[in-house]
Amino acid sequence: MMSEIIVERAPRSDIDPYEDNVLLDPWPMYDRLRDMGPAVWLDKHNMFALTRYDSVLAALQNDAAFPSRFGVMMNEEMNQVLRGNTLCSDGDLHNMLRKVVIKPLTPAALKSLQDEVDLEAERIVERLVDRRTFCAATQLATHLPLTIVSNAVGLPEEGRERMMEWSIGMFNCFGPANGRMRDSLPVLDELMTYARTQAVPGKLKPGSWAEAIHDAAARGEVPPEAVPVMMIDYMGPSLDTTIFGIVNGVWLFANNPDQWDRIVADQSLIPSAVNEILRMEAPIQDFGRYVAKDYNMDGVLLPEGSRVIAYYGAANRDPRKFADPDRFDVSRNAAGHLAFGAGPHMCVGMNLAKLEMRSIFKSLARRVKRIRIVEEQRALHNILRGFSSLTVEVEPL
Ligand code: HEM
Repeated sequence: MMSEIIVERAPRSDIDPYEDNVLLDPWPMYDRLRDMGPAVWLDKHNMFALTRYDSVLAALQNDAAFPSRFGVMMNEEMNQVLRGNTLCSDGDLHNMLRKVVIKPLTPAALKSLQDEVDLEAERIVERLVDRRTFCAATQLATHLPLTIVSNAVGLPEEGRERMMEWSIGMFNCFGPANGRMRDSLPVLDELMTYARTQAVPGKLKPGSWAEAIHDAAARGEVPPEAVPVMMIDYMGPSLDTTIFGIVNGVWLFANNPDQWDRIVADQSLIPSAVNEILRMEAPIQDFGRYVAKDYNMDGVLLPEGSRVIAYYGAANRDPRKFADPDRFDVSRNAAGHLAFGAGPHMCVGMNLAKLEMRSIFKSLARRVKRIRIVEEQRALHNILRGFSSLTVEVEPL
């Protein structure tokens, strides 16, 4: 019944954004949907696609109309699983949880990690550049998240080893109920069981971020029943997102050698280059939202009870916001990109992710004249954008 009303009033499309070939090259689809209107009904998924910058921003900033507590995923099964964690909560509960999760991730708190991150970046880049040929996905981009971040999160050993696979599987479950989502359900079950039974006091590294969540619950700062799902706030997004951010940057620089020359000549461009990498190739392409009350999205009625998908990746290439949006320009002011979201749920880990990315590209810029791609394999994933392998050959300075 509801979909009949929607269909009458909204532009609609039979595009499936989650088909293999569309996931591998989503940009033409985003262009089409953006041109069709501020919100487009996807017949295949019974949800609205938001692809314009202003539409995505409006939804992310308005948590009264677009709350997160009913889940931010594109299938109901998954929307039940993470209910009540930081990502999937609103209002007072969200503020309470976010305050605890963000504590080790503020710029001030991260100062203590900066030297270690720089040292490890120098170490891995020196070693790989000496070899000339290496995999930028599995050997370079994974290094900082796997050595420093997983140690700081503080899971017991076997958990650290599984964290990458868990997070890839978990994010596939954020997508619509397709084959990729269903294939990942066993991995999700394993992750949730681990969070409940192993990520517990006595087994976690003393002083770690995960242990701090249990400590906060013991002090009454967060409800005890929220603790297992809060573990996912660290276990889910802390590795693959940053890994894909780094490898996407290597791919962009290999394909735009003139931009790499600018970085080598002037390393003060690295912070803006990192924003530009995230704008061009958002590691998380999209999350969803529930529509809690009828909402007029720039002339398109989104009825109460419907769902929208906010495409960060499409918003970041909206020509209404960014001139010549498909051009990679390291001196562009891309700070308004939505790769970390916006509004009350804006990524708590963004300062850490940017710190890791800046550090890797700083070390590379000191040693590498040119990056050439030998072989590339894109990760085929419902939500994440990056590479499962990217073999590169580097020419030292
Ligand atoms: C390049 C790397 C990263 C990207 C692209 C990214 C992207 C995002 C996005 C788009 C959101 C907003 C979700 C929404 O609108 O509902 C988000 C939220 C979040 N991110 Fe990240 N993230 C990254 C790294 C990290 C890291 C390193 C951590 C943890 C150490 C982290 C932890 C979180 C948490 C806990 C939230 C939920 C915040 C809330 O709901 O208040 N992220 N992230």
